[in-house]
Amino acid sequence: MLTSDLLIEILKNITKVIETNKQYLCDIDAAIGDGDHGFNMNKGFKAVAEKLDVVKDSDCGTILKTTAMTLISTVGGAAGPLYGTAFLKAAKVVDGKKDLDNEDIVKMFDEGIKGVIMRGKAEQGEKTMLDALIPAFEEIKRALDSGSSSPEAFIRATKAAHDGVEYTKTIRATKGRASYLGDRSIGHQDAGATSSYLIIKTISDTINK
Ligand SMILES: Nc1ncnc2c1ncn2[C@@H]1O[C@H](COP(=O)(O)OP(=O)(O)O)[C@@H](O)[C@H]1O
Ligand SMILES: [Mg+2]
Repeated sequence: MLTSDLLIEILKNITKVIETNKQYLCDIDAAIGDGDHGFNMNKGFKAVAEKLDVVKDSDCGTILKTTAMTLISTVGGAAGPLYGTAFLKAAKVVDGKKDLDNEDIVKMFDEGIKGVIMRGKAEQGEKTMLDALIPAFEEIKRALDSGSSSPEAFIRATKAAHDGVEYTKTIRATKGRASYLGDRSIGHQDAGATSSYLIIKTISDTINK
């Protein structure tokens, strides 16, 4: 069961983890992009954290919608609108709900990822955040379908997201700024896949605590 209180805690923890990894994410982006991913994400989640006190007693839909709108309006670069769209689509699924069950969690992820695909027109294998998000989502579904608890499912999803980040090192970028480098993008991991992994890991760490 995922409550609105736990969701607030997850978002606070994501803010902390992104801040800790700000330089790391910028360095990864610098290798094949413009080096701003950590800065962009930190700016966005800092702004989200400032809004959390206002929505802390709200339902999950309101919390996620506020997160989405804040990310869209404060994060420059490609990732802001993409993550913003993901949170916005996830928010719609849980509108008015304070307590979420496993079915809600699966639907939120599903819609969130569809939002990223709709907005960015990328698919798996193009060296983007989707290469961490899609395997993580598939693992969550598999784990829950086979009777695992949601904390256990997120541990497995974290591993899948990590494998997804490793996979991005082996492929050429065909979307986003890194695609300008063509084959020279091979050998480097994708920044957005890395931030997605960190977000999934933080969800897992928070609900397993
Ligand atoms: N079309 C897309 N679909 C999904 N993710 C994308 C797309 N374009 C870029 N990304 C993700 O965004 C990340 C870059 O984000 P960021 O550095 O913040 O923006 P920018 O590329 O504008 O500098 C990439 O590492 C990639 O994971
Ligand atoms: Mg960048």
